Amino acid sequence: MPGRGKYVAGAAVAAVVGGALFWLVTTPQPLAAVALPQHTADLANGERLYHAAGCYSCHKPAPDLKLDDATLPAGGAPLKTPVGTFYPPNLTPDGETGIGTMTDIAFVNAVQRGLSPEGEHLIPAFPYASYAHMKVEDVLDIRAYLASLKPVSSPEMAPDMMLEPLVRRGVGLWKLMALHVTPWQADPAHTASWNRGAYLVNGPGHCAECHTPRDVFMVPKTAQAFMGGAHPGGEGKVPSLHNLVESKRYTDQADVSSALAFGEMGGYKHVSSSGMGEVQGNISQLPQTDIDAIAEYLVSLK
Ligand code: HEC
Ligand code: HEC
Repeated sequence: MPGRGKYVAGAAVAAVVGGALFWLVTTPQPLAAVALPQHTADLANGERLYHAAGCYSCHKPAPDLKLDDATLPAGGAPLKTPVGTFYPPNLTPDGETGIGTMTDIAFVNAVQRGLSPEGEHLIPAFPYASYAHMKVEDVLDIRAYLASLKPVSSPEMAPDMMLEPLVRRGVGLWKLMALHVTPWQADPAHTASWNRGAYLVNGPGHCAECHTPRDVFMVPKTAQAFMGGAHPGGEGKVPSLHNLVESKRYTDQADVSSALAFGEMGGYKHVSSSGMGEVQGNISQLPQTDIDAIAEYLVSLK
């Protein structure tokens, strides 16, 4: 059957061309070390941004580590996602199992480009597409803050996921659609505090990761930013952040600020479940000016 042979040959050629194209477009694109600015680390700023970015929420210690200090981001606690269960790694400066020997450029490539020190794509359950909008100085300050913590041993654990090498490589395709590396730009039409809020929400705070709906490729629908949708962890719905005051969910901007600062303990019930309680706990550790800036930006979403 010559026709069938031709078909098979054609399919083989298509597979090779398709495979080569897949390989080409999914090639990791790390930043070069020369791209890093000269910067003197500011530990206090690093600590503040570490809380704003919620690194601990995912990199918290596995319960069976039994650390004296459970506030250390020793990693290993399970994180369920649609592609499998991850055990986010140890962020303490332990040389063997933590990030003690990771260079600044490798750290920036992980946090802002989603690349492992070995140059592989990281799975976007790690919200690097939001962190890509951060000022690189803020990322370096987080690095310096982490380096100042007590090192603890917590060996890396492989994720439970299907077809890991293929999925990782495929993340290169997702990045073409979802990873925008332009740094955050202030909008001169708004106040400095609104811009600070916009930066904290869209960059380190990675609020869109849950509050913006995604398409079938898991790419956030930017035209519907912060309009709510399915929870990325598969646990029900995430509310819209539009019209928080108009819809009478909050009386005014100060009320939104109090909700973020005091959460469930302050009588605000809708900032507690499905990960939001942890987000609120992180925000509550920010200076009042930052909390107010986030509220100012949120109430402007209409
Ligand atoms: C929503 C959960 C989440 C948050 C928040 C988060 N991470 Fe992660 N992080 C992960 C996951 C999951 C991985 C592993 C991804 C993979 O295996 O592909 C990871 C991997 C990393 C790695 C790569 C380590 C390596 O050796 O490959 C670094 C570095 C890192 N995170 C730092 C941070 C920092 C710094 C913050 C805060 C600015 C942060 N993470 C916030 C989930 C998170
Ligand atoms: C892990 C997913 C997740 C992330 C990240 C997240 N949220 Fe939420 N958010 C939720 C969920 C789920 C709720 C509903 C919680 C409830 O009803 O108890 C919520 C509720 C809220 C509410 C209350 C809305 C209402 O109708 O009363 C506000 C305000 C809010 N989030 C702001 C933020 C801000 C600001 C950020 C970023 C700093 C953020 N969220 C990041 C999941 C998330």
